[in-house]
Amino acid sequence: MYKVSLKARNQQFEYQCAPEETPLRAARDHFIPFPTGCQRGGCGMCKVKVLDGEYNHELIRSHEYLSDEELNNRYALACCMTPKSDLDIITIEDYEKQRTELAESIKI
Ligand code: FES
Repeated sequence: MYKVSLKARNQQFEYQCAPEETPLRAARDHFIPFPTGCQRGGCGMCKVKVLDGEYNHELIRSHEYLSDEELNNRYALACCMTPKSDLDIITIEDYEKQRTELAESIKI
């Protein structure tokens, strides 16, 4: 089992995820409100930024909602990945909000 630290909907969660399980599936099993839709790589709703940790990613299913640049910059679909270590991930909504707040604080 690996530990997943997730920031979603402005809250911090920690939960366990088996090596063959997706972080999305594990979160749903723990009743954690992870944004989700199709759960098979077809909608992009579960897009995350991986802040730390190693993972496998199913590129064939996830390519439609992630550019090559995003894949290289550790963006992933939580329904198409499995952990290879503990993970620190943040939903794309929370990540973009965090970046906007940081940019605004630098301007002040
Ligand atoms: S839930 Fe649709 S791509 Fe992950």
